[in-house]
Amino acid sequence: MAFEQRTGLILGIESSCDETAAAVVRGGTEALSNVVASQMNLHANYGGVVPELASREHLRNIVPVVREAMSRAGVSFDDLDAVAVTEGPGLAGALLVGITYAKALTFGFDKPLIGVNHLEGHIHAVLMEARQRAEKAMELPLLALVVSGGHTHLYLAEQREGAWCYRNVGRTVDDAAGEAYDKVAKLLGLGYPGGPWIDALARRGNSQAVPFRFAQIKPRINRDGSVPLNKKAPLKVEGPSFDFSFSGIKTAVLRYIETNHMREVIAERRAKLAEHPEWKPGSEEAAALCDTRTLDLIASFQYAVVGNLLRQTFAAAETFGARGIVVSGGVAANSELRRRFQADADRHGLPVAFPSLALSTDNAAMIAAAAWQKLVAGEFASDDLGPTPQLRLGGS
Ligand code: KG4
Ligand code: ZN
Repeated sequence: MAFEQRTGLILGIESSCDETAAAVVRGGTEALSNVVASQMNLHANYGGVVPELASREHLRNIVPVVREAMSRAGVSFDDLDAVAVTEGPGLAGALLVGITYAKALTFGFDKPLIGVNHLEGHIHAVLMEARQRAEKAMELPLLALVVSGGHTHLYLAEQREGAWCYRNVGRTVDDAAGEAYDKVAKLLGLGYPGGPWIDALARRGNSQAVPFRFAQIKPRINRDGSVPLNKKAPLKVEGPSFDFSFSGIKTAVLRYIETNHMREVIAERRAKLAEHPEWKPGSEEAAALCDTRTLDLIASFQYAVVGNLLRQTFAAAETFGARGIVVSGGVAANSELRRRFQADADRHGLPVAFPSLALSTDNAAMIAAAAWQKLVAGEFASDDLGPTPQLRLGGS
C-alpha cells in the first residue's frame, strides 16, 4: 500500500486529561499542524485537574481545535487516511469527548478510526522527532521512561514483525513523579502545575542541603507466588525491582515544613501569588518570595526525585540490555532531569532522547505518530471503541 511511502495523513485527537489537542501528521513523521488548548489556568484555581470541568472544557474546545489543526495543515477531511484518538488511560469523561468526536468524523467521512494508548503516544513523540531530524533510528530494544502528572512507567520497547511491543518493567506504586512535583509545590504555596516552578526555583538552591532518601521497593508477591490484584502493586519482575514510590518524599517535605515552622511564610507566599497570577515560575518576583531555606528544600527535593528516576532507569536499561533510552511525558521537560540523564547516558555510552518541550506535555501529534504503524498494519478500531480510563500498555 502507498502508506509505506510515508504519505499517509492522520488526524490525531487527544483529550485524556486537561489539554484538548489535535494535529495532522504525515507518514508518522511530519507534523503539518499541532494545536493544543490548555485548561491549565482553569484548573490552577483548584490546585489540580477537576474532572467535570475538564470534560466541559473539552466539549467547548474540541470542534475549534480540530478545525484549527485541519486549517493550519491545509488539508480537508477527505484528504485524511485515518483519524487516531486517545482511548486511555485518562479521565473517562474527558476521553469520551475526543473519542465521540473522532468516531463522528470517521463515520461522516468514511475513514478508518485508530485507537491509541496515551502512554504509547508519549514514547512516539520522541521517535517521531528523531525521524524528523533524519537521525539514524535508535537501536532496539529501547528503555522508555514515561514520566508525567499521571504516570511514571518504565517500558522495554521493541518491534516484532513491524509492530511495536512493550513490556512494562517498572511503575510507581503510589504517586506519579509529576504528581509529587505538583503536591510539593502546593505545600510550599507555589503555582500550578508545580513542575515548572520547582524546576526554575531549584536552580537557586543548594541541592545537598536536605538529604532525602528513597527506600528500595521489593516486588510484592502473594504466598502462592501470584501477583496481587491491586493495580498499583509493584510488578513481579525477576531480580531487582524497578518500581517507584513518590508519596514518601512528599510526606518528608511536609515534615520538614512543620519541623522548621515554615507554615506562616508559605501562607504569605500563597497570598502574594494569588494577588499576582501573572508572575511566572522563572521570574525574579517569584524567586524573591522564597527564602534560602525554601530554595534549598526545593533544590534537594528535585535532586532526590531526579536521582531516583535516573538510578531506576539506568539499572533497568542495563538489566534488560536496552540499546538506548527515551524519556517522555510532562516531567521530561525538567532541565535538571535532562542534564543528568544526558551526563549519565554519555558515561554509559548509551544514546538518550527527549521530546522537544512542546511535545513533552500532552499533545495530539504524538497520538497521530503512534497511529502510523497501526495504519500501515490496518489495525483499526471497531465502532464500539470507548474510553478505557485504566488502559495498560504492554504486559509485564
Ligand atoms: O504529560 P503531562 O502534560 O500530563 C499528564 O499526562 O500527566 O504532564 C504534566 C506534568 C505535571 O505534573 C507538571 O507539573 C509536570 O508534568 N511538569 C514538570 C515540568 N513541566 C511540567 N515537572 C518537572 N519539571 C518541569 N519543567
Ligand atoms: Zn500525558
